[in-house]
Amino acid sequence: MRIAVIGTGYVGLVTGTCLAESGNDVVCVDNNVQKIAILQEGRLPIYEPGLLELVQRNQREGRLHFTTDLSAAVQEAQLIFVAVGTPPTPEGAADLSAVFSVVDAVAQALRGVSPPPTSPRILVIKSTVPVGTNARISARLQELGCAHLLEVASNPEFLKEGAAIEDFMKPDRVVVGVRRPEVAEVLRELYAPFLRTDRPFLVMSPESAEMTKYAANAMLATKISFINEMANLCDRLGADIHDVRRGIGHDQRIGFQFLFPGPGYGGSCFPKDVGAVIAMGRQVGCPMRLMEAVDAVNHAQKQILFRKISAHYRGQLAGLTIAIWGLSFKPRTDDIREAPSLVLIEALLREQVHLRVHDPEAMHNVRALYGDRLYYARNPYDAVQGADALVIVTEWAEFRHPDFALIRQLMKGHVIFDGRNIYEPRQMANWGFTYYGIGRGL
Ligand code: UGA
Repeated sequence: MRIAVIGTGYVGLVTGTCLAESGNDVVCVDNNVQKIAILQEGRLPIYEPGLLELVQRNQREGRLHFTTDLSAAVQEAQLIFVAVGTPPTPEGAADLSAVFSVVDAVAQALRGVSPPPTSPRILVIKSTVPVGTNARISARLQELGCAHLLEVASNPEFLKEGAAIEDFMKPDRVVVGVRRPEVAEVLRELYAPFLRTDRPFLVMSPESAEMTKYAANAMLATKISFINEMANLCDRLGADIHDVRRGIGHDQRIGFQFLFPGPGYGGSCFPKDVGAVIAMGRQVGCPMRLMEAVDAVNHAQKQILFRKISAHYRGQLAGLTIAIWGLSFKPRTDDIREAPSLVLIEALLREQVHLRVHDPEAMHNVRALYGDRLYYARNPYDAVQGADALVIVTEWAEFRHPDFALIRQLMKGHVIFDGRNIYEPRQMANWGFTYYGIGRGL
């Protein structure tokens, strides 16, 4: 099929590349000239494991193209994916201006096609949009006199950064929201190469598909705030959340996944989508009390490492040197949006702490924010040189088994604040470190 994907962020770029990989002819469009130039040169504007190789191969084999010319791209396409951002407004709702400006631009481009296309194309909304947006898009097309040219379908994306290709290529499920079943059939054919026989292709209304995306992220965010709150209680009462997680996870109704305590969830999705659910509820007079609590717990949790550090040093932080390992909001990405590391950095800088930071991929993004206010260490050991304390904020695999003897030698003080519970308290005591985890009863 001929496909245009508008928006080359994580979702758009991964969608376009994976659809090219399955044999389609794909053109990815973005209005960011610099981004497109980078992609045309066979480079990536983001870090995502495995993506570069896939982009380069499909480019070489002529199935994947990049352009800023939306009009030309959509005129040729049977399927037009919209994967532009929906950032939060100051009230926490989703800002749909990019989505609607794309809808208008697509309508404009298709009106100009002569002769007019015979069968309607499908405008597939992949961006995370509030319930009712697909209906508003259809209404807008009607208003523009283009409803006969375009069908609208909702097709939310569930991929995770850091595992995006695997998630797209082997989805747990594909969800589409349509008004007419024929539209779903086109998408079923498109996704067939990716769906194992035991993985469903779920067809529902656009409203339910839109809601599914928010409900999924809201549930996942709830699990995290739940376990973080339990961990904080464990800290106070001398229980170990690690054992508690094992104790509850064997109950199959609960399970083990997504119940790792930490310094709060970050990223471009959970904080934004939880806020959007609260805003949707407010708009229709349906208070989302649980989501408000999930959000409040997460805000507080982003302070947890600072609170532990401050308590350890009895508020006397000025002049200390602290090493931070891990800056991205999670491993295997260079994304620092809403990252807990930024909240910690801000708080420690305010207290006049010297910071030596290291991250395998995200250093350039943090440097763009803080410039020479931080020391950017070449590797984890460089970061701990002369440090009073080490803080683990992101659980990159390379931090899991470091040379503790060397770390002890290099550090001035011997305190570790482990925001991801990647070390064992007893082992840390054996190495002679004062160790703080999250919810480990310390
Ligand atoms: C999330 C969802 O997992 C995807 O399914 C969804 O498609 C995506 O948002 C989206 O809406 O686009 P992502 O933001 O890439 O994906 O990252 P996650 O792996 O879900 O992690 C989010 C945050 O939760 C991270 O800060 C992570 O450290 C934190 N987390 C996760 C925990 O603190 N504890 C856990 O047990 C799991």
